[in-house]
Order: sequence, then structure tokens, then C-alpha cells
Amino acid sequence: MKLLSWKTATAVLALSLGAGLPSAWADAQQLATTVCVACHGEGGHSVVPTFPNLAGQQQDYLAKQLKDFIDGKRKNEVMAPTIAELKSGDVPGLAAYYAGQKPAPGKVEDAKLAEAGKKLYEDGNTTSGVPACVGCHQPNGVGNTRYPRLAGQHQAYTIQQIGDFKSGTRANDKGRVMRAVAERITEDEMKAVAEYLAGL
Ligand code: HEC
Ligand code: HEC
Repeated sequence: MKLLSWKTATAVLALSLGAGLPSAWADAQQLATTVCVACHGEGGHSVVPTFPNLAGQQQDYLAKQLKDFIDGKRKNEVMAPTIAELKSGDVPGLAAYYAGQKPAPGKVEDAKLAEAGKKLYEDGNTTSGVPACVGCHQPNGVGNTRYPRLAGQHQAYTIQQIGDFKSGTRANDKGRVMRAVAERITEDEMKAVAEYLAGL
């Protein structure tokens, strides 16, 4: 009798753990594969160049961006309807889901342009005062817990974001760090660095 009730208790505990613990993860996966997939693609591999790849993006950065969208610190018309439905409780699971997907390199279309972009990425532009991107975004653009991954991103999206930081349309960078970088970059430099990053 005693043994049976212990067994029952264990079974109930196992069941509730089974249903409870992974449910946040299951919710995130459900959201990702039914809602986000329409724009960000399967596993965060977007096929539209203005929709960012999310696969393998830094988890902390993903969480910050989603929070910034929810709080209205970062605004985008295309993301707005999704954000209106999103709860802050969904953020950690979604960030973990996309950070856990395997990233894939994009395609370099202009090798010479990419070469110029690599130089800007690694050395900056000492004449105009653009700092080297590598100091924050890390070798090969992989990012870290403080800075986003840029490797393998669509050229069009990267160009758009640098332009948005430059114009101030995007202003959710703490301490203006990216705006200070972007204000010195020329259009040609944006294209070059985006071309380089796409191929990583
Ligand atoms: C209708 C299309 C659409 C849907 C659906 C959508 N997104 Fe987006 N998402 C975008 C666009 C476009 C951007 C770029 C916004 C910008 O330029 O600032 C973006 C940006 C993002 C970013 C910032 C990426 C970065 O590198 O800074 C994250 C994170 C993100 N979306 C997550 C999600 C998640 C999670 C979902 C599902 C819950 C979702 N999105 C649904 C279109 C969409
Ligand atoms: C001092 C550190 C620093 C340097 C140097 C720097 N960045 Fe950034 N960058 C950041 C931070 C921080 C963010 C994220 C801002 C936020 O929280 O939204 C960012 C965001 C970005 C984004 C947006 C990524 C996305 O997924 O939306 C792009 C693109 C970018 N940086 C490109 C560059 C390029 C190109 C250079 C070199 C010319 C560069 N950065 C140099 C700190 C830096």
C-alpha cells in the first residue's frame, strides 16, 4: 500500500514535470514554426533579403531586440503586428530557440567589394575615424554575449540597419555605440562591409 502510493506520487511528479518544464520551450517552438517562420524562414534562415536571418544569432542580443520591440524602443512596421501579440514571457524561449539553430553563410556576389569590406571590418577607416568592427563584433563576425552576430546576414538587411543607425531611425543601441560608428560610414563602405559579412 505504501509502496503503491509512493509509485503513484512519482508518476504524478514525472507527469507534471514532463508537462510543465518543457512547455515554455514548446510554446516558443510553436510560435517560431507557425508565426515567425513566415518571414524569418525555417529555423531562422530567411529567404527575403530585408528579413534578417535569426539562426545562430546571440541569445542575449535576440532577447534584447524582442524586449526593445515590445517596449517600443525599436520600431518596425512589418514586425509590429507580431509584436502586438507577443508577451514578454515568450521572449526567453524564442531567443533560446533561434540562438540554438545552426547558422549558414550567405553568398558573396562581388568578391572585390567583399575584400574592401573585410579591410573596413578589421581595420576601420583611420582617415574618417570609423572604428574597426572586429573590436566589438569579433573575428569573423560571430559576436558574443554583448554584441550581435553579423556573419551570414543578408546584404540588404545589414545595409538597412547601418543606414538606420546613421539616420537615427534605429536608436536602441545603449550609449549610442552603433550610431557613433554609423555616422562616419559612407554608402560605399556600408555596401562593402555588408558584402563581406554575408559570406562569413
Ligand atoms: C511579417 C514579417 C515578420 C514576422 C511574422 C516576424 N518578423 Fe521579425 N522581423 C521582420 C523584419 C522586417 C525585421 C527587421 C526590422 C527592422 O528593420 O528593424 C525583423 C526583425 C526581427 C528581429 C531583430 C533581428 C536583428 O538581427 O536585430 C528579431 C529578433 C525578430 N524579428 C524576431 C521575430 C520573432 C521571434 C517572430 C515571431 C514571434 C517574428 N520576428 C516575426 C519581419 C517579421
Ligand atoms: C563599440 C562597439 C561596436 C563597434 C566598434 C561596432 N558595433 Fe555594430 N553594434 C554594436 C552594438 C552594441 C550593437 C547592438 C545594438 C542594439 O542593442 O540594438 C550593434 C549592432 C550592429 C548591427 C545590427 C545587427 C542586427 O542584426 O540588426 C550592424 C549591422 C552592425 N552593428 C554593424 C557594424 C559594423 C559594420 C561595424 C564597423 C564599421 C560595427 N558594427 C562596429 C556595437 C559596435
